[in-house]
Parts: sequence; C-alpha cells; structure tokens
Amino acid sequence: MKKDLLTLRDLNADDCRALFKRSLEMKEQHASGTFDRPLEGKVLGLIFDKPSTRTRISFEAAMVQLGGTPLFLNAQDTQLIRNEPIADTARVLSRYLDGLAVRTYSQDLLKDMGAEASIPIINGLTDLYHPCQVLSDLMTILEKKGKLEGLKIVWVGDGNNVAHSWLNAAAILPLNLVLSCPEDYQPDETILEAALKDTKGEIEILSDPKKAVRDADVIYTDVWASMGNESEHGLRKKFFKPYQVNQDLLALAKQDVMVMHCLPAHRGEEISSDVLEGDHSAVWDQAENKMHMHKAILERCMSD
Ligand code: CP
Ligand code: NVA
Repeated sequence: MKKDLLTLRDLNADDCRALFKRSLEMKEQHASGTFDRPLEGKVLGLIFDKPSTRTRISFEAAMVQLGGTPLFLNAQDTQLIRNEPIADTARVLSRYLDGLAVRTYSQDLLKDMGAEASIPIINGLTDLYHPCQVLSDLMTILEKKGKLEGLKIVWVGDGNNVAHSWLNAAAILPLNLVLSCPEDYQPDETILEAALKDTKGEIEILSDPKKAVRDADVIYTDVWASMGNESEHGLRKKFFKPYQVNQDLLALAKQDVMVMHCLPAHRGEEISSDVLEGDHSAVWDQAENKMHMHKAILERCMSD
C-alpha cells in the first residue's frame, strides 16, 4: 500500500521514532559529505498554491540529496487553474511522478488527491495541518534536549494549522503539550477532542500565556495571521498582543528554555526581535532540520 502523509494521524509512534532516527542519521551524513541515494531515478512533483521558502526548497534539496529529481509545479501554470478536476490531475500525475508534495488551502482537496493518486501524497501545509513541520520540530527537540518525554512544550499564539499538527503529535507520542491561545482563536474543537481522547501524554489548554509558560522546556510560536487570514491581521493584533513571546514571558519558563518558530516570523508581533535572535532561539537549526526530516519522509514514502 502506498504511504501518504496527509496528517500526522497517518503515522504511529514507531513510524515517528523511525523518522527521528533516520533524519538525525541523515543530518550527520550530510555533515560528513556522505549520502545514501535511495531515490535514484525517482521524481518528486511539488504543487504549491501558497507561497513557501523553507518547505519547498528543503523538499527540493532533500530530493536531490537522495539522488532523485524534484519538479516544481506552480499550480497556477497547470490546468488546475482552469478547473481540471483534482481526481484527473492526480491520476495523470501518478503516471509521470513517484511522489507529490502539495501545499494548498483545503485538507479535503488533499484527501481527494490521496484517494485518486497511485503515488504517495505528502502534505506540505494546508489550512488545517502542517505535519512535516511538526515532525522536523520534534526532531529538533530530540536533537537539542535528548528526549521528548517529560518536557513541557508550550504553544503560544494562534490555534492554527501548526498547532493542530502539534495536537495530532500529542495523540500519538507521549508529549506534555500546553496550548495557550486567545479565546476566539482556539484550535479546532474536533481535532482537540480527538487528541484529548487519544493522548499518550498530557494536553492542557491554558489561555493565560503567563501561566502556560511557567517552567516550560520549549516555547513555540507562529504568526498571528496565517496565509489566507491576512485580511484579519489588524484585528488579530489587538487580541494577540499578550501572547507575544518576549523576554518577560521567557523569564517565567525554565532557564534553559528553547524557543521555536516555524518561520516566517514577524519580529515585534508574535515574537520580539531579541528573543528570535537570542541564545534561547533554535529557529535556524529548526529551519535546517526541515531538510533532513524531509529526506527521511521522502525515503519512507518513496523508496522501494
Ligand atoms: N515553515 C514553513 O513551512 O515555511 P515556508 O512557508 O517558507 O515553507
Ligand atoms: N501558520 C502559518 C505557517 C507558515 C509556515 C501559515 O499557515 O501561514
């Protein structure tokens, strides 16, 4: 059976652990200049209809490092723009490609592609989820803290696509996850309830960011208005101000707290510039690790 990665719920704990191990190995190999080339002769298509710097380029670089070829397809340049059905597109692309990474708005559309395509479909972000991001973030935590269990990981800000993938992660791995979001910007209830039902660790919702970050090992934030919500940016700023990750908030966390942000960041909004650039910030290594995790994901989904 083909291995799609549409949400983190497509994986179990063992799958995740295998990806962490392999991505860390691949990072070491990259540093020493040695590469496995398990995807020689394979082609990964990338269809993105939202902008991307990190996800797109790290997937493309990952594919080259694995010996394969990435093929970037701007959705606007395909017949999708003229309403060719997604099912037809998925069937035809399956005849040319060996895998497809997709960034789009609707998770349902991605699901439909997964159902119609005979090649693996990988979610490169939708309005609802960003699973590859959270896999590489977990890899970064493991790399820097040596473990995942027993750490207090606090999400501060919008209950958005990345937050949803964190909830999914907490449903399959023993994480201690706290989400601190403004009242009207909580995560999706269905996703939250499913995670609470299945959690292998602890999930807590604590609206007060000061209480939430107390003794945190990891503080994670993201933009206040995601792609597609830009028109709400002005309104959101008012509600999100107390959720800025700044030195005052950091002072309440553990001394060795690690600050994460999936980027792109808006300095002076969800994170202060000094925190983003400061000693606690892991964001640049976090961004690099996307490439190593993407190699592990591509190998899992696309190698024979
Ligand atoms: N973190 C992330 O997904 O960044 P891009 O939007 O640049 O891909
Ligand atoms: N939540 C953000 C993540 C960007 C990588 C967005 O969807 O815009």
